[in-house]
Amino acid sequence: MKPNIFNVSDARLAAKKRMPKIMFDYIDGAAGDEYTCEQNTSVLDRIRLQPRVFINVENRSLKKNFLEQQWDLPFGIAPMGMCNLTWPGADQMLASAATRYNIPLGLSTMASSNIETTWDRAGERAWFQLYVGQSEEIAFDMVQRAETCGYETLILTVDVPMVALRPRERRNGFQAPLRIGPKQFFDFATHPQWSIRTLLTGVPKVANNEGSDNNKGEKFVRNESRGKVDWRFLDRLRDRWKGNLVIKGVLSPEDAVTIKNAGADGLYVSNHGGRQLDSAPTAIEMLPIIRRAVGESFPIIFDSGVRNGEGVVKALAYGADFVMLGRALLYGIGGGGSQGLTAVIDLFIQQIDTALAQIGRTDINTIDKHVLVEKYASMVLER
Ligand SMILES: Cc1cc2nc3c(=O)[nH]c(=O)nc-3n(C[C@H](O)[C@H](O)[C@H](O)COP(=O)(O)O)c2cc1C
Repeated sequence: MKPNIFNVSDARLAAKKRMPKIMFDYIDGAAGDEYTCEQNTSVLDRIRLQPRVFINVENRSLKKNFLEQQWDLPFGIAPMGMCNLTWPGADQMLASAATRYNIPLGLSTMASSNIETTWDRAGERAWFQLYVGQSEEIAFDMVQRAETCGYETLILTVDVPMVALRPRERRNGFQAPLRIGPKQFFDFATHPQWSIRTLLTGVPKVANNEGSDNNKGEKFVRNESRGKVDWRFLDRLRDRWKGNLVIKGVLSPEDAVTIKNAGADGLYVSNHGGRQLDSAPTAIEMLPIIRRAVGESFPIIFDSGVRNGEGVVKALAYGADFVMLGRALLYGIGGGGSQGLTAVIDLFIQQIDTALAQIGRTDINTIDKHVLVEKYASMVLER
């Protein structure tokens, strides 16, 4: 059944209703008191765009060139682990959407589909996101697999030295692999729409742990420390990976400059959707500061808190070249499977397109600080 989704809040409510609490809280929840998560969206919401009149905006284009690829839209799919907990086959839906809409798909180390299957589904639209956990060997084994497939872009996520304490996950007893006690059983029993479908297809696994070639047969473990990654590792990875290397989870201008100087091809400004440090600044506040630090042309991807198309336009105006959507897409899937996902993506397209017309622009590539109401534009770099 096609869900009634007219904004991302509708999708979120539909997901909340259909999914067991433990699963909904896994995607919706955040670190600590969830302050940063809430602020990500409220700070974005407060930014004002400047409406303009008497400009012919009949024909508009949302196409964007980024990292040597031509995309049909200025946004893509953020890497997210264990998406199939939202709906069986969620990863497949995301890969189909990446192909249908010609947008990038971030495939997480922790995804429910593996590197090879995702390459078959989405081809060069897929970007592999790497976590380095308990051993470098496991990480380099995955890098090798991505290279063998033909992936051109590697995203190294560095903002999870430790998996943060997320109260909702702890309260609900969420863990990977899942353990089902009486509390979880009751939760599943009272959400039969999700449970029957998931039981029929089997409980999703971290798929990249299978098909590994590393000779110790080790697996990536979610709760192991990921704190070993240092600058020397970045150098080793840069030597090893010849494709585009993007570093995700950067919020410090000083780090941004060092990463640029170490030879990365791009930065991904993000606070992980507030899922890591609950006292971190909002990603949107740091974006113009980081843009200033790395200069006008260094590639920057942005995410964290985007819940509507105007948010995408604001991030581009603040200095991003490309925007990724996280929870917004999972709410769509959680509420209505592939139809819910399509509804959310279509909504973003309509919202961006409409906003473009309202602010007097016809080409998404022309978005700059001048589309902002002046008081918000003062700290943004002229590009
Ligand atoms: C359920 C879930 C799982 C995630 N898993 C990963 C992951 O495996 N790797 C990663 O780099 N980021 C992961 N993220 C963070 C997203 O890539 C992205 O930074 C975040 O969702 C953006 O915030 P937003 O969802 O509020 O827009 C995850 C986010 C969610 C919601």
